[in-house]
Amino acid sequence: MAVGAVVQGQAPTVFTTLFEPQVRMAIWSRPSPMPPDALPPPDFTADCDGRWIALSGAAPEWFLQDIERLAEIVATISGCEAWRARCETVTRRACPRFHQDAVPVRLIVAYEGPGPEWAFAGEIGEDLDGRLIGTRRRVRTLHPGDVAVIKGTAPGWEAWPDLPVVLHRSPPAGRRTPRRVLTIDAAPA
Ligand SMILES: [Fe+2]
Repeated sequence: MAVGAVVQGQAPTVFTTLFEPQVRMAIWSRPSPMPPDALPPPDFTADCDGRWIALSGAAPEWFLQDIERLAEIVATISGCEAWRARCETVTRRACPRFHQDAVPVRLIVAYEGPGPEWAFAGEIGEDLDGRLIGTRRRVRTLHPGDVAVIKGTAPGWEAWPDLPVVLHRSPPAGRRTPRRVLTIDAAPA
């Protein structure tokens, strides 16, 4: 099946498209698994060396299960059993400029609040701050719960063509509208 640079699906099998060189980002659209009475810790990390998982502290069961499930996806895509998960409560727009991440592959999900904004580099040109109306019309925003796996620019992935380039940035957030965001990176030794 021919697919484009960004693929969206209703099941985690959508991530198998990442094995195709031109696919830069795959998105599993799902409702947020976060129950209103069991928020994730405000600043949390989990590190896996391929065998053991070290948690920075206590966390709700649904959250740990989700990390485990999503980390398995990162490990499968990256071919690397070691990974690092970080969950933060974000109250400002952390990365306002469109960019690619300097990692091999990154998974990102917002349990609460909007997910990342993304756009094709060719569509927004030099307007990496997204100031122009024409740019804003081309920016898509992921929903709470959506799981995005994004290929980054780290060495080791040169076999994948550079084009088309998909860029992303943080959406707005505030004290009254916090985002609870989990990222998982492959952690090659
Ligand atoms: Fe990023």
